[in-house]
Amino acid sequence: MDFSKESIFTNARSHKKFGGEQLSENDIKAIYELAKLAPTANNSCPLRIVFVNTVESIERLAKCALDFNQEKTRTAGTAAILAYDLDFHTNFTTLAPHMKQPTAHSGWAVDRLERYALANANLQIGFLIAAARALGFDCGPMGGFDSEAVESQFFGDTRWKFNCVVLLGRGDDSALHPRAPRLAFEDACRIT
Ligand SMILES: Cc1cc2nc3c(=O)[nH]c(=O)nc-3n(C[C@H](O)[C@H](O)[C@H](O)COP(=O)(O)O)c2cc1C
Repeated sequence: MDFSKESIFTNARSHKKFGGEQLSENDIKAIYELAKLAPTANNSCPLRIVFVNTVESIERLAKCALDFNQEKTRTAGTAAILAYDLDFHTNFTTLAPHMKQPTAHSGWAVDRLERYALANANLQIGFLIAAARALGFDCGPMGGFDSEAVESQFFGDTRWKFNCVVLLGRGDDSALHPRAPRLAFEDACRIT
């Protein structure tokens, strides 16, 4: 494991081309065991993940990608499909026994549930990327997929909503463009 700032931040890139190797089930579980510790509101843990880990299922996923992401997806041996669960609140009695009204969210309108689930799943996805990098894997996050196609192909009879895909494995550094600039501290932050 390498939790250095180099492995998680300064040397890590968003990869577009992989070598086709598959992660072992142990590696996949190790990534989840770290990612699940991400902080979320009320410990709601709305992130759901389908790990795609066969040539056949990667091809099925590639067919759901928008055209500019299809070949990138086919280079990967493993991908995580990240979703947020609109039924996340049904786990509150277990995940948040300290809550006074663990069932209060049941009455929320779908758009409110969706905002809450999306915001907290996004936090978990950031941790998942950091966890995968710490465990030695490169990541290729991609949002350009046909959401409805992914949901019908991979989520079955659930209220999971597609968020994004993270390709996992060994990225090909030679396929990377130079890193794009980020906003300077002065442009993005204030200290008051
Ligand atoms: C939520 C999300 C969606 C993204 N969607 C795509 C995509 O559809 N296709 C793609 O090639 N890259 C996609 N990217 C990669 C970004 O372009 C990349 O993370 C960004 O340019 C920073 O690159 P760097 O990490 O190498 O510095 C996505 C990244 C994120 C986090």
